Amino acid sequence: MHKNMEKEYLLKAVSAFKRRFTVISPEYKILALSSQLNKMTDSEIIGQHCYKVFYDRSSPCENCSVKITKEKGKPALMPKPGNFLDLDEMPCYFAYPIFSGNEIEAFVSMDFDLPTRGGLEDKLHRSNALLRNLILSSVDCVIAADMNGKILIFNDAAVEVFGYTEDEALTTLNVRNIYPGNQAFEVMQNLRSEKYGGKGKLKLYHIDVINKNGENIPIKLNASIIHEKGQEIATIGFFRDMREEIRIKNELENTQIQLLQAEKMSSLGKLAAGVAHQLNNPLGGITLFAKLIQEEYDLEEGAKEDLGRILKDAQRCRDTVKELLEFTRQTRHLMRPYDVNQAISRTLFLLESQTLFQNIDIERDLNSSLPLVQSDIQQLNHLFMNIILNAAQAMEGKGRLTVKSSLLSDGNRVCIEISDTGPGIPEDILPHIFEQFFTTKEEGKGTGLGLSLAYTIVKNHGGNIMAKNKPGQGTTFIIEFPIADMGNEGEESGDKI
Ligand SMILES: Nc1ncnc2c1ncn2[C@@H]1O[C@H](COP(=O)(O)OP(=O)(O)OP(=O)(O)O)[C@@H](O)[C@H]1O
Ligand SMILES: [Mg+2]
Repeated sequence: MHKNMEKEYLLKAVSAFKRRFTVISPEYKILALSSQLNKMTDSEIIGQHCYKVFYDRSSPCENCSVKITKEKGKPALMPKPGNFLDLDEMPCYFAYPIFSGNEIEAFVSMDFDLPTRGGLEDKLHRSNALLRNLILSSVDCVIAADMNGKILIFNDAAVEVFGYTEDEALTTLNVRNIYPGNQAFEVMQNLRSEKYGGKGKLKLYHIDVINKNGENIPIKLNASIIHEKGQEIATIGFFRDMREEIRIKNELENTQIQLLQAEKMSSLGKLAAGVAHQLNNPLGGITLFAKLIQEEYDLEEGAKEDLGRILKDAQRCRDTVKELLEFTRQTRHLMRPYDVNQAISRTLFLLESQTLFQNIDIERDLNSSLPLVQSDIQQLNHLFMNIILNAAQAMEGKGRLTVKSSLLSDGNRVCIEISDTGPGIPEDILPHIFEQFFTTKEEGKGTGLGLSLAYTIVKNHGGNIMAKNKPGQGTTFIIEFPIADMGNEGEESGDKI
């Protein structure tokens, strides 16, 4: 090819290239330019200082790529002067020297937009930081591990639930060790099966994990296998600590049972109160007419005695009805100074006629000058009813029940001791008897609420309750109440049972 043609093609190629090439002399004068500049004429450009033409300056720019090339004798890449806010690309000049022998004859400067590594790195850095923050601040524990079980990610929630520091987990813990027995193996098997949300996934899988202290923690697990190029490379699990949820669920269930119990008690009370009312009128009639007969007729001695018995029995019925009404009275909890002996007597009065008490000797040792106790009558009735019933049940209806009330030597507390001659409470269950739903009775016979209710009542009254065991000889329940401050009457109790 002809040399001139080759040159022509080269020039055409340069202008086809959509970048501006400028040939600059060592004195910063423009020797040639690949494209026109803002309709300036050649004479306004060629032979002029590049800094003047391009930047209207009187001296070379600070970061001039030509200047650096000139100083270092090798190509230089420098950003264009000016502020550019684009993080993805940076406008630059790339200059390289044109040698004539060993001397630099001129420079070629080319402008282009460099995809900024800084910008890319910054973006990558920012999205990594965002991901890390998301994982770290997740409420669920996030744990990722490689296929050997080496932990790769252990977020803040995991630190809190499992008790290992992130460092410990990443360096010493194997993910298999957070599962009891060989459950880690089962988890992996289920992950690879279709059973729980598809192959490679586990959805809402319930399992226990073990924390650093060896405690079992119920967990809801969502997990998946991470693949790269068709290979399993890691697993990631989102562990939700279920303890709080389970606690709330249990509490709700307990409250429901208690509500049912309370409802039952209250409807029983209403029923009893209704029956008592119904009985009151005919009893009134019986008494009235028996008295009339007694007064108006001249009866034989035998008939008089019989009428006397009728009147006595009718009076007993009326007393029972009165006690029943008193016992089931639906009142707001009202705390007032009250004689504890009366609550004990009322409970015994109602209970002793029951068949369960037929063969039980009841021994009363009540201090008649007992100071009053600031109390809610209805609650006291329930308290003694539960303890005395337990005693009778423990004795299986045969034995001796002793109820004693006294003033403690400090003069500030009254003490009630209720003893039975039953089998006593085994040492291992003694610490649990006041717990809700703790019962040794078969299903349907006991709910395990009696003593927990008794405990709450005693605490509401600022008192103490404990059980003393006499192995083989029975049990004694000891209850202490502070005596009433007589300047403080008729307070409404804030506590509910
Ligand atoms: N006097 C007692 N002698 C022996 N064991 C007793 C005595 N009182 C209570 N217990 C034991 O304490 C347990 C708890 O008593 P609690 O009154 O709370 O429940 P419960 O009697 O089993 O059921 P509920 O009172 O709700 O019908 C009983 O199941 C029993 O094992
Ligand atoms: Mg009971």
